[in-house]
Amino acid sequence: MLTAVAWPYANGPRHIGHVSGFGVPSDVFSRYQRMAGNNVLMVSGTDEHGTPISVQAEKEGLTTRQLVDKYNQVIAEDLQGLGLSYDLFTRTTTGNHYEVVQQIFLALYRNGYVMPKTTTGAISPSTGRTLPDRYIEGTCPICGYDGARGDQCDNCGNQLDPADLINPVSRINGEKPDFVETEHLFLDLPGFTESLGKWLSTRTDWRPNVLKFAQNLVDDMRPRAISRDLDWGVPIPLDGWRDQPMKRFYVWFDAVIGYFSASVEWARRIGQPDAWQRWWTDPAAQGYYFMGKDNITFHAQIWPALLMGHNGQGDRGGEVGPYGVLNLPDEIVSSEFLTMSGSKFSTSRGTVIYVRDFLREFGPDTLRYFISVAGPENQDTDFTWDEFVRRTNFELANEWGNLVNRSIAMAAKNNGAVPAPTAPQAADEELKALSRNAFDTVGGHLQRSRFKAAAQEAMRVVSAANKYLSDQEPWKLKDDPDRRDAVLHTALQVVSDANTLLTPFLPHSAQQVHELLGGTGVWAAQPEIREVSDLDDASSSYPVLMGDYAAEQAKWRSTEIEVGRPLQKPTPLFAKLDPKLGETGPEWAPIVD
Ligand code: MF3
Ligand code: ZN
Repeated sequence: MLTAVAWPYANGPRHIGHVSGFGVPSDVFSRYQRMAGNNVLMVSGTDEHGTPISVQAEKEGLTTRQLVDKYNQVIAEDLQGLGLSYDLFTRTTTGNHYEVVQQIFLALYRNGYVMPKTTTGAISPSTGRTLPDRYIEGTCPICGYDGARGDQCDNCGNQLDPADLINPVSRINGEKPDFVETEHLFLDLPGFTESLGKWLSTRTDWRPNVLKFAQNLVDDMRPRAISRDLDWGVPIPLDGWRDQPMKRFYVWFDAVIGYFSASVEWARRIGQPDAWQRWWTDPAAQGYYFMGKDNITFHAQIWPALLMGHNGQGDRGGEVGPYGVLNLPDEIVSSEFLTMSGSKFSTSRGTVIYVRDFLREFGPDTLRYFISVAGPENQDTDFTWDEFVRRTNFELANEWGNLVNRSIAMAAKNNGAVPAPTAPQAADEELKALSRNAFDTVGGHLQRSRFKAAAQEAMRVVSAANKYLSDQEPWKLKDDPDRRDAVLHTALQVVSDANTLLTPFLPHSAQQVHELLGGTGVWAAQPEIREVSDLDDASSSYPVLMGDYAAEQAKWRSTEIEVGRPLQKPTPLFAKLDPKLGETGPEWAPIVD
């Protein structure tokens, strides 16, 4: 199982909108898959090329190199703090990535799926630098809308060419751009019309919105530029292009190849350079891709086309590229947007809640839970502090935390250890059956990336156990210690099961509960930041996320608790939040109306 997670731009710290799209869902999924016994390879990294990077570098007065070094580190820390269990979280400015991108490109080129074309490009007269299409603004030649961008008009929805705009100006400094002829490389998307269409028609199990979207794209495929007039990016390995300082690959061309290059880097790092093949050339291996909905085009159309071109599987065939026949995506799991007061989370509009601040105050599991159970899985969803407080207080603290706490506290006080299950009654068996059966239900939802349903089903076990305790009232069974032992044993067994069911969502507190139940060692493994040197350039080093996930004990099944294991009075699992937070927000992200 390959878990391919969208690569965040290294242009700022991550906010909770980012991680609700690609981050938490991919990690919940991967953790479940590992627990279910599948071989997971979860890869990603920071996306370090393109205009989002150059623009931000200019804003911060840094070189692009300084900017990406800064945010690669910051983002690695944000994601590690959330407990996202990447096998490798790397970056796109490595020697390995450059090499793999160039190899894939050459395979496409040899198979005839890339062609040069002369186009008109805009240049800033004051800086002499290229102005990307979307940094040009003017009047739409079709509908007359004033704020049309060089790539498209948001009013009528038509795709535009910057040279078509009436009165074009630079959005950066308002000056009128010069238009010059420039040569670019184009991916021959029309050369994949049939092959891509045919492949999409076999993707019947995709979410309908993703499939529809992708099929619409295939109906109108046009050549797409894969180079840019920029000095920051992966160089183009062709005579006449290689040495041109202002010709580089388009950022999306290199970024999607990152899924593959990161798998190769991982294999090299563990000293088994061919180990990536298990996820890429074994036709039985599955590839799941996680992203926000604005990324669908690149994963459902461009990336499959690049893979087909490399494999010699486009409409005109070709030779198999240097890496063998690489697997196409099996699933595209895209999230909608997490919004705030109805608008998309964005750094520019000031409605920003940074992951780092969030983690410092509330810890990772409350955020992971909120995103899983109340995130933008199927529709744009508003984040409110009020709902965050309610979910945390009522579901995590009152329901789950309280179940753990009172079960373990009572057993610790009365028995000092896990009591024996003497003469179980029907109610005991029923509750245990409910939690045992939940492994299939919750697992089925997780397999299909239905995170809300999965979390809700897991919480149903928790509610049933709380109800069981209120019905059985073990605190009133002083005179019937045998029955009390049976009830407490049942409760602890179900706490253990529920903890397993909740582990993909709440891996940090799951480790705590494992220990409260007398367990030792690693239950749910966490990613580590490791400073490594570039495999192809020992003089440069960078932080990566990796982890020893094979060492974790968590398995997707009910495990019988061990009678006699010593228990101690537990400390609370989740702190209750002050309800006032729901009205005011925290100091560092106050609610403004
Ligand atoms: N950096 C892009 C974004 O934030 C996502 C890149 S995903 C990849 O929207 F596949 F291209 F890597
Ligand atoms: Zn228009």
